[in-house]
Amino acid sequence: MQWYTGNTLYDTLLIVGFAYSLLVMVSSVFGTAAYGGRFGGGKRAKGIKLGSKTGWILMELPGLLVFPVVFFMGPNADQSVPLFFLAVWMFHYTNRALVAPMLMRVQPGSTASFSLGVVIAGWATLFLHGYFNAAYLTQFGEQYTDAWFSDPRFQIGLVVYVIGFSLNVHSDSILRNLRAPNPSPDEPRYKIPYGGGFKWVTCPQYFGEILSFTGFAIMVWNLGAVFVLAMTAGNLIPRALFTHKWFHKNFDDYPKARKAIIPGIL
Ligand SMILES: NC(=O)c1ccc[n+]([C@@H]2O[C@H](COP(=O)([O-])OP(=O)(O)OC[C@H]3O[C@@H](n4cnc5c(N)ncnc54)[C@H](OP(=O)(O)O)[C@@H]3O)[C@@H](O)[C@H]2O)c1
Repeated sequence: MQWYTGNTLYDTLLIVGFAYSLLVMVSSVFGTAAYGGRFGGGKRAKGIKLGSKTGWILMELPGLLVFPVVFFMGPNADQSVPLFFLAVWMFHYTNRALVAPMLMRVQPGSTASFSLGVVIAGWATLFLHGYFNAAYLTQFGEQYTDAWFSDPRFQIGLVVYVIGFSLNVHSDSILRNLRAPNPSPDEPRYKIPYGGGFKWVTCPQYFGEILSFTGFAIMVWNLGAVFVLAMTAGNLIPRALFTHKWFHKNFDDYPKARKAIIPGIL
């Protein structure tokens, strides 16, 4: 099937990718991914379970591997604009696959709750995401000359990406600091987070993640980046709604004005 780049493999996988993202969007409305203390149990969490740190590192590693391999197979791998996006990508996935899991504070005595099924689903996404973007940047995309740096799509996208990434990392750090560096088993596992984006929404970390992939999609301007934006939004918007409901059920004093994910709207 040839409809976007003219390359049969790429164009066919893009159709498969968008069909997969539609499936994820629909299924996430009925139940969120089985990982973490709040959602790692229940019917969707059958089978092998891993600890949080291991689960995250294992799931996200293809993000650090597939993209550079495909990137350097392309003829334009030595051009400034693709190299800039390589740097953004490696920065983003070094945080997601290594830094964030290493810093994570695990409640002592908590049982392994990261489902192997979630890791495998994550691999499928990251293989497609890495291939789509790297192949487009160095093989199929024709817009990535040095002039792209002065294109408004690049500049606006970069600003949105930086805002989203900063919100994500700041919100992750507020959540992390709700637990002591070596948490005591007597401490409650979950507390109400305050400050930063939590002033407006229950899941500013997810809002930041969606904004960062929106910015990335605008700055690279290709459908491969829209694929991961669809996957991320399809997964995280329903998860934020489940998390919001969970907080209201478990904390009587949960701030009433807080929305789930989009300030003032949702
Ligand atoms: N691109 C994507 O599709 C995608 C998908 C999923 C996640 N992510 C990103 O990955 C990061 C982690 O996501 P996540 O779903 O694991 O987020 P999360 O639910 O916010 O959990 C992150 C960490 O904070 C702890 N935590 C959460 N709420 C807490 C509270 N109220 N009190 C004390 N500790 C709390 C969790 O502990 P427990 O493990 O004990 O619950 C976990 O260690 C986020 O930045 C998210 O945006 C991206």
